[in-house]
This record gives sequence, C-alpha cells and structure tokens, in this order.
Amino acid sequence: MIKRETIDKIFDTVRVEEVIGDFVNLKRAGSNLKGYSPFNDEKTPSFMVSPSKQIWKDFSSGKGGNAVTFLMEHERMTYPEALRWLAKRYNIEIEETEQTAEEKQKQTEREAMFLVLEFAKNWFKTQMFETGTGKSVGLGYFKSRGFRQETLKLFETGFSPDVRDAFTKAALAKGFKKEFLIKTGLTFEGNNQLIDRFRGRIMFPIHSMSGRVLGFGGRILDSSKKIAKYINSPENDIYHKSKILYGIYQAKQQIVKDDQCILVEGYTDVMAFHQAGIKNTVASSGTALTVEQIQLIKRLTKNILVIFDGDRAGISAALRGIDMILEQGLNVKVLLLPDGEDPDSFSKNISTDELILYIADNTKDFIKFKAQLLQDEAKNDPLKKGELIRNIIESIAKIPNAVQQEIYVKEVAQIMDMTEAVLFRELALVLKGISRRAEKDALRQKRQESLKPVTKTKPEIPVLSKREVLEREIIKLLLLYGNKEVEVEDWDVKEIPEDNTEPVLEKFVRTTVVADEIYKQLQEDEMEFSNPIFKKLYQLIIHKSLERQPIEVSQLMSELSEEEARIVSDILMEEEKYDLANWEKHSIDVKSKEMTLGWHLMDVLLNLRRLLIQDLINEQKESLKDIETDSDRIDIFNNIKDYLFLFKLVSTRLFRMA
Ligand code: CTP
Ligand code: MN
Repeated sequence: MIKRETIDKIFDTVRVEEVIGDFVNLKRAGSNLKGYSPFNDEKTPSFMVSPSKQIWKDFSSGKGGNAVTFLMEHERMTYPEALRWLAKRYNIEIEETEQTAEEKQKQTEREAMFLVLEFAKNWFKTQMFETGTGKSVGLGYFKSRGFRQETLKLFETGFSPDVRDAFTKAALAKGFKKEFLIKTGLTFEGNNQLIDRFRGRIMFPIHSMSGRVLGFGGRILDSSKKIAKYINSPENDIYHKSKILYGIYQAKQQIVKDDQCILVEGYTDVMAFHQAGIKNTVASSGTALTVEQIQLIKRLTKNILVIFDGDRAGISAALRGIDMILEQGLNVKVLLLPDGEDPDSFSKNISTDELILYIADNTKDFIKFKAQLLQDEAKNDPLKKGELIRNIIESIAKIPNAVQQEIYVKEVAQIMDMTEAVLFRELALVLKGISRRAEKDALRQKRQESLKPVTKTKPEIPVLSKREVLEREIIKLLLLYGNKEVEVEDWDVKEIPEDNTEPVLEKFVRTTVVADEIYKQLQEDEMEFSNPIFKKLYQLIIHKSLERQPIEVSQLMSELSEEEARIVSDILMEEEKYDLANWEKHSIDVKSKEMTLGWHLMDVLLNLRRLLIQDLINEQKESLKDIETDSDRIDIFNNIKDYLFLFKLVSTRLFRMA
C-alpha cells in the first residue's frame, strides 16, 4: 500500500492540466482550458479544465474530478494504478507502508523483472527495425502478411535473431542480472550455457491493461518447420496466461466508447482487426477463456462479441466460454466466420466497409447461435430437440439476472416454436437443481422473518441537517460496502440543447465499486463535508476503500474520539438489512438487493451533490458583491453558468431515477 505522505505529495505535485494535456488537446479559454470531450464525440467543445482549482469537468457526460479521477475514467486505471502512473510521470518516489522484508523483496524483484521485459521489448524492436536481417526477415514477414508500419509500431512488435544467446548477451552487457533474465523466462540455462528462449521469431509483446509489458509471444517465420508455431513466456510472478488478454491496452478506450469488446483467438487477428479499423478487439491467445479474462473485460464493458473461425475444431470449448461469460453477468453475442477464414485472413480479403457489414449481418445472440449449431442434429428428432432446448435453458439459467433470463426464454420460445410456459417450467427445474440449497435457506429466512415483531423502535439520533444526513449515509455506505461491486443506473448525455432546456439523457446500467463511485462523484464538485466528524471519517476511510483494503473497525476506532467512535458503532449496528454477507447465504435475493444498494448509492450521491452545487452557486453569487474588475466578474458568471448546468444535469438524473 502506498504511504499517506506519498499520496499527499502526488496530489501536491500533479498539475491536472498537464496530465490531461497528455490525452486531450486543450486550448486556453479565459482562466480555464477547453477541449473536445474525450468521452463523447461532439461538435462543440464542452470539456473544461481549471488550472486554478485543479479540476476538470466534462459537460457532455457530466463527469469530472481531479487528475486522479481523470486517469480512472479515461484510462480505466484503478486508484493505486493512477497514483503510480502519476508518481512516475512526476518522478515521485513511492514509499510503501509497512511491507514485510519478504514483501519488499517480492516488490523489488517484480520491478527488476519489469525492467528486463521493457529492455527486451525495445531490443526486439531495434532488431526488427534497425538491423539488416531484422528488416529483411522480420519486417519482411510482417509486410508480406499485409501489416502496415503504424500497426507494428502500435503493437510494438519485434524480431529475435536466430542466434543462441544474442539477447542474453545484450542484456547482461547492459547490466541486467542473470537471475531476472531467467525469472522472466527470456533466458534459460542448458548445459551450463545461457540460451535465449526466443530465437528466429517475430515477437509480440503482451501488455497489461496499463501498458506494461508482461511477457512475449514469438512466432516462427517458416511454417514448414516441425517446431511449435508459437512459443510464449513461461508462467512467472508477472506473466499469468489466464489473466491476460492480448491487445487490451491498445483496445481499452475503443471498448469503452463502443461499449463492446470483440474477442478473437490470435495475436495476428487482433492486429489485423485493428488495422481494419475495428479497434475494440482482444485475444484470449489460443487458450480457453477464463473467468479472470472475462472480469478484465467487465471493467470496460458488459457486452462481448465472440468471433469463431470458420473451421473451428473445439466448438464445445467455445460453448463453455459462452456459458462462462453469461455466468459473469455479461451479454454475449457470437459471430461465425466463413469456412476456412480467421479474423486475420478474412479482414484482409475484404474492405473495412464490407467487414463491418458482415459483422452486423451475421452476429447472432447466443441462443440463435446454439440453436443453429445444434439444430441440424435435432431436426425431426423430438428427443434431440428436447436435449437442445435443455442445453439452451441451462445456459440461460447461468445468467444472474431474472429479467434478462425472462427475455431470453421468450426468445427461445419464438425460435423453437414452443410455448413460453413450458420453457419457464424447464428453467425453474434447472434453477432448482442448481440452487436447491439456496432455496431452502431462503425459505427458512422467510419463515424467521414472519415471526419477527412488526413494530420497530427508531433509535434516537441527534438532529442533523439535510446535508449531514446524506453525509452520514455516505460514511455508512463506505463502512459497510466500500469494496462492493454494484450495478447502478446512470444517464448518458445525448444532447445539450442550446436553448437551456433540459439535457437529453439516455439510461444505461453500469458496474461500479461503491467507494470508487463515491470518490469520483464527490470529486466532481470539490466536495467538502459540512460536518467535521463525517469529514474526518471520510478522509480516514476513503483511501483505504479505494485501494480495496478492508476497513479494520478496531484500528479505525483507535484513531477516533469517543464521540466519533460512538457514531461509527451506531452506523455499523443499524440496517442489518443491507448486510450483503447475509444475503449471499440466501442467494436468491442477492441480485435484487444489490440493485437496491446501487439505486440507494446513486440516490444519496445525487441528492448530496444537488445540495452541494446549490451551496457553491450561492457562494459564487455572494462573491460577486466584492468584485472589482469586469474580467473577474465574467469569470464568476461563467462559474455560475457551469454550476447551474451541473445542477440541472444532476437534478435531471435524480428525477429520472425516481
Ligand atoms: N498459440 C500458442 N501456441 C501455439 C499455437 C497458438 O500460444 N503453438 C496461441 C497464439 O496466441 C495464437 C493463438 O493461439 O495467436 C491462435 O492460434 P492460431 O490461430 O494457430 O494462430 P494465429 O494467431 O492465427 O497465427 P498465424 O495467423 O500467424 O498463423
Ligand atoms: Mn491466423
């Protein structure tokens, strides 16, 4: 964990306009900087950065915050990732809290490995772009397959010469330790000699979500050779095959923009799709899809399109992948390519327009896909048809959302020409099979609840202002569910009418973590708690929550006065009904309660922000009184205008929710 002092130092040093300037083209506009929203395509710039306040606001999406929240929103970094990124950009040394000697060593080892990997990536690039053999053999191979220079640069591909230890020698000469060359798997030891793992191959660096190189894949140039076509970095402390997606770093922004991720199989498939302009593409790198990979995508979107090669052998593995995606609560669509094609070959045979058209015309939802796959066998065989339907229903049973399930059941009824009632009965049967135990628990819970007395005595609480009540609720949400992932309903700004009427909003559902959501939304309005106790509690809890650290109640209490501790314990005692740990035992209701929590979270945040913005507007109006110059007055008017707009946005979102 990063030390508090380091965090403070980062916040003190960072200039929001410089950080955002790395990503967005900004122009001066009065005391602010202005640019086109990086979150929406727009015709007039509505993205503002205030160097004096060190904040940014995007009026087209309603988002805003400081440098850290910008990186969290735009680059999809986690809070610690954003801090580390900023520390690196401003050469701030990160001090970690209380690491054990062992942890410290692990940390330095990992850092050393990252340095080796970074060096290797650059060395392979140099080999390909700047040596004779590299240019003719490596670059020549990529060119012969139709890859353009800009694509190769984007994916940082390279070349490893066919020499026993060329890389190892170069790395040792640069002072890298043998230990880390071996730990990263770039070098191995045989017969007392050091040998390069990758020799005579074109090299594909595999990046993390934030762009660090984790490992490599290397492809032979001559397919007639009887050796493995690809070799990859071996599993180690940094490279875990099951947790990476090739291309995620290059694709992440487009995935967010399109709200969809395309999943293919191979390195070259990702690069070819990118080159064809379809940039929201990642690859599972030839292995069966894993839960961790799906969760990586889930940080960016809930919609996955899986593309299968026309001549796919392992259909059953593919079907398992689909079920796994459904189980994670994501939506999945499927596209089958024509016989003998993979995304790489297919995208190079046709124009981008044709490709986009083909995808649009041939993408199927998973039900139609399964039905189509299995239907041939099932034709005219009622027994087989029964099996097929059960198979599809089993997939539907995996979806953790009852509404979604119902929609799909209705679709199956239509496609398979069956009555809905029969299918719902089938679904109920399958669900029963899966969760007989959960059901029993739920029943028991119901019975117990019916025995409880109905009347409840309200605990006495001190009189708090409306704003303080909301602040207290924020603390409660942080204490009880800070690390919980929830689904929330939100609104995208589709249009801002010129005539000052209500902005046009479009509803969507997204996944967020309670603490992240609180931090981000409160940052947007330079939030200060009005109640000093809640303010102190917020500061104590928020950074821990953002770093996904559990809140140790006893430790927290030790940092509090008696009165503060009493407030915390009051909060922890009340409202057991929101206790997620409890719901999980009765799995049947978890989803709907989580939705309730998400709804509650947004309700509290938006109400609080409305009050806050109101205060800020009043403050600005107040300050108009002792203003001297016209330009200052214009600045204040502009501020008020901005706040009024934000107020309208928050109000509209809030009232749409009710
Ligand atoms: N793969 C691997 N090891 C192998 C074969 C494949 O790791 N021996 C992984 C690679 O990530 C590869 C993916 O599986 O990109 C898909 O394999 P394949 O379709 O055979 O390769 P392509 O990516 O299509 O490569 P190319 O077009 O260059 O033949
Ligand atoms: Mn291929």
